[in-house]
Amino acid sequence: MNNINVSAKAIGGKLKGIRGQIITFKTDPFTHSAHQCYDYLPDGLIVMQNGTITDVGNYTDVITRHPLLSDIDTYTDAVITPGFIDCHTHYVQSPMIGSFGDTLLDWLNQYTFPTESRFIDKDFAAISARMFFRQLLEHGTTTANVFATTFETSVDAFFEESMRYDTRMISGKVLQDRNLPDSLKDTSAEESISLSEQLLNKWHHRGRQLYAVAPRFAPTSTPLQLKLAGELYQRYLPQGIYMHTHLDEAHNEIEWVRRLFPERTSYTDVYDHYGLLGPTSVMAHCCIVSDEEWQILHDRGCTVAHCPSSNLFLGDGRFKYWDAIQQSRPVNFGIGTDVGAGTNFSIPRQLGEAYKVAMLHDHSLDAIQSLYLATKGGATALHLQHLIGSIAPGYEADIAVIDLKPSEFAEWRLSFSESIFDKLFVLFTLGLDNINKATYVAGRKVFDRSREHTHLYATQLQY
Ligand code: GUN
Ligand code: ZN
Repeated sequence: MNNINVSAKAIGGKLKGIRGQIITFKTDPFTHSAHQCYDYLPDGLIVMQNGTITDVGNYTDVITRHPLLSDIDTYTDAVITPGFIDCHTHYVQSPMIGSFGDTLLDWLNQYTFPTESRFIDKDFAAISARMFFRQLLEHGTTTANVFATTFETSVDAFFEESMRYDTRMISGKVLQDRNLPDSLKDTSAEESISLSEQLLNKWHHRGRQLYAVAPRFAPTSTPLQLKLAGELYQRYLPQGIYMHTHLDEAHNEIEWVRRLFPERTSYTDVYDHYGLLGPTSVMAHCCIVSDEEWQILHDRGCTVAHCPSSNLFLGDGRFKYWDAIQQSRPVNFGIGTDVGAGTNFSIPRQLGEAYKVAMLHDHSLDAIQSLYLATKGGATALHLQHLIGSIAPGYEADIAVIDLKPSEFAEWRLSFSESIFDKLFVLFTLGLDNINKATYVAGRKVFDRSREHTHLYATQLQY
């Protein structure tokens, strides 16, 4: 077993550089004019030390400030961006991704619950976590907000693997004490909350790890479990804890919530009533949302994860980002893969799907907006915009390197596009599986497509 106690500060202070074409965002292209929103450096240099970005700018300017910097990875025919941010996914569904579809509730019963039941076995959980992280890093994702499942083993296996890479991740025990098989059901509301609190105290702010109180969704929790979960969330909110759940994804799900909670005015009102909505609440889907519900989400400062490939796969609701960001009551949103209803682990591929979902409703999503959502927008949705999602001094050095020649055909096709954003749009649309060349996590190159050992743990790498 590899040592999981990585300390970013302990290993030394060597300077490390990354040179190439760089894009990073300063503001939100949904509310500002596009050209003000990002910095583009055709030949830029990033300087990193102890896992943090210390300098960035045009190569010729930055190198004169760091005459001793000799360890530089140079990328041609590539775009260097902040690492991608996945605002909602389930690592425990990696073993059943792509299972023949059905409606949400049938799909949960038929495929999801039996698979998640297997995570009581720590070895199965560890193998799944290992595969999940390898996929994420291969696709340039450096932070994700991730559902585990009922069992302590599923949470420990996830955070242990994250510690090995030194990734900044959010996860937590899933709370679910009714309407699912006994093999997955919490034995009592009180015990489930007490276990969640223990895991919170074990993992929250350990290294870069962050904890989320995670009721699966209203139908699989008793009112008592929701009440205690709300109290737990509110108690630890000052320490930056999250609340992560699903909301308003499918019509029959909403109908079921109405039957289970007839006294509440809406699905969102159920969560609000139990104290589960706050500034770090992340609600997956929000496809079928009334005005009253958008207003509650806005008032509580919640954010939403848009999971386009999942919504297309399960074929029910579709997220309308223009509704979410309505000027009178804007709600932040980011992008989620939602594996295993989502059909792949790639944020760039989700962007291609998000464009098509918007187009089905006579809206669009351009490459500037898309790349923002994948980076700084995702960080903002997760309230981590002061730490990740930007390439600027003081930020954690989480970086992806997008290949502009991922295949013979793509290279030829991109030769007919002029601007860098035109090229990125084509790549998002083609949805190739190998557009990421390398991934840096806290300054270490943990994934390199051209290396013999493509994935390396932080413990196996020097700065
Ligand atoms: N709603 C409740 N649980 C789930 C899940 O595992 N996946 C999706 N897509 N929706 C859910
Ligand atoms: Zn989900």
